[in-house]
Amino acid sequence: MKRRFKIESIPNPGARVYSWIARKSPPLRDLCIEVAEEVTSKIIAGRILDVGTGPAYLPVEIAKRAPNLEIVGIDLSPAMVAIATKNAEKWGISDHVRVQRANAADLPFEDGYFDLVVSTLSLHHWLRPSECLKEINRVLKKNGEAWIYDARRDTTKEVNAQFRERYGWLLAFVFLNLVRAHSSITVREIDEILSSPEIRFSRKTVVDKGVILKLQLVK
Ligand SMILES: C[S@@+](CC[C@H](N)C(=O)[O-])C[C@H]1O[C@@H](n2cnc3c(N)ncnc32)[C@H](O)[C@@H]1O
Repeated sequence: MKRRFKIESIPNPGARVYSWIARKSPPLRDLCIEVAEEVTSKIIAGRILDVGTGPAYLPVEIAKRAPNLEIVGIDLSPAMVAIATKNAEKWGISDHVRVQRANAADLPFEDGYFDLVVSTLSLHHWLRPSECLKEINRVLKKNGEAWIYDARRDTTKEVNAQFRERYGWLLAFVFLNLVRAHSSITVREIDEILSSPEIRFSRKTVVDKGVILKLQLVK
């Protein structure tokens, strides 16, 4: 894979700026709600891991819809973990949403601990993606799934036009031209990651969701 400059763990003040943007930005809010709805249409009890949880908006949205789920969010950035912990307290869900600092490449959980692993907009940050996916596989139960969503850089003109229609030209310009330049992934990059012999999922599917790619892996 072509080496791109990557910041793996978001430091402060970037963490605070990101949390503000993720709360206010319609495309990021919509993604969070769409993923929370997809997750809770599959599972309403059991354990979920959110990898690279950032400000924990996804665990918050999932917990609002399915209070019987036990949700763990992990993030490499101590600043993000602090923000996420405050958010879980603010929303009154800290009894079933726990956030802790950890690296996706070295998860502090026993084998087969989670029913589902999710992740949004984090994969493009991972410095060792195959090790992260190997770890995700290890902590999943048998037949458990990992749903990893990230922004797609190699979109068609039609997809870009639909995005502009939905969010307006200013947001579309910022997202499609500025944000995606460094915070995104292509189908080819995903295929390269998945070709690693370390990754042993029984099924690996890349789902095209317009400006988002969903990597759906079954243990
Ligand atoms: C762009 S933010 C996305 C946050 C959140 N998932 C969302 O959708 O708003 C990416 C997050 O991934 C975290 N991250 C990057 N590499 C990581 C790794 N190897 N292990 C755990 N977290 C990681 C960063 O610290 C950052 O908080």
